[in-house]
Amino acid sequence: MDLDEALRKRRSIRSYLHKEVPEKLVRQVLEAATFAPSAKNGQQWRFTVLTGTAKKDLTNRFRHELEVLCKKIGEEEMGSTFVSCSIMEEAPVVIMVWNAGDMGWETEKYSVAAAIQNMLLKAHSLGLGTLWIGDIFATIEALEQHLNKPWKLISAVALGWPDYIPNGPWDGRPRKSVDEVAEFLC
Ligand SMILES: Cc1cc2nc3c(=O)[nH]c(=O)nc-3n(C[C@H](O)[C@H](O)[C@H](O)COP(=O)(O)O)c2cc1C
Repeated sequence: MDLDEALRKRRSIRSYLHKEVPEKLVRQVLEAATFAPSAKNGQQWRFTVLTGTAKKDLTNRFRHELEVLCKKIGEEEMGSTFVSCSIMEEAPVVIMVWNAGDMGWETEKYSVAAAIQNMLLKAHSLGLGTLWIGDIFATIEALEQHLNKPWKLISAVALGWPDYIPNGPWDGRPRKSVDEVAEFLC
């Protein structure tokens, strides 16, 4: 797929078909992640690929923790967290993305973000849909404890065959123009 087409047509997918994603394709998505730039070439990214019971255990924990939080702070403070949890429940694959950097650099997490963007674009080029899910931060400690790794969670990425594909940036998520977001100094 042409890069410009991939950049313009990739969209967040929030509805997935009940159809398995072959591990071979998941591996291609992860390999694309490993081509990302990283701070001092530290390749701080790590991935936990969840399907089946492992995914169910994680999303059950996420939902439980959200319910506990909701009782404390009230529904109106929960934002999109429950919806994101439902998407993780529906998607056939959820990839938990970690920052394994141990230098304490701010830049370590940017390496991981770059890897995630590569994942989204590669998945799109394979006809797969993704959703970058930051809502896990609502209950991040519980999810880290559940998965029990010596790293910091950066995001979850839902992955699967899209059930509905938005048309482009103009369909619900318009983009600011270059003139709105950039200045040129000389
Ligand atoms: C850091 C980050 C966190 C995000 N977290 C969520 C999330 O928790 N739930 C969700 O539905 N979308 C999430 N998104 C997706 C954004 O809502 C989406 O990228 C944005 O609305 C633009 O739409 P598009 O991806 O279709 O172009 C996140 C995106 C980023 C980059």
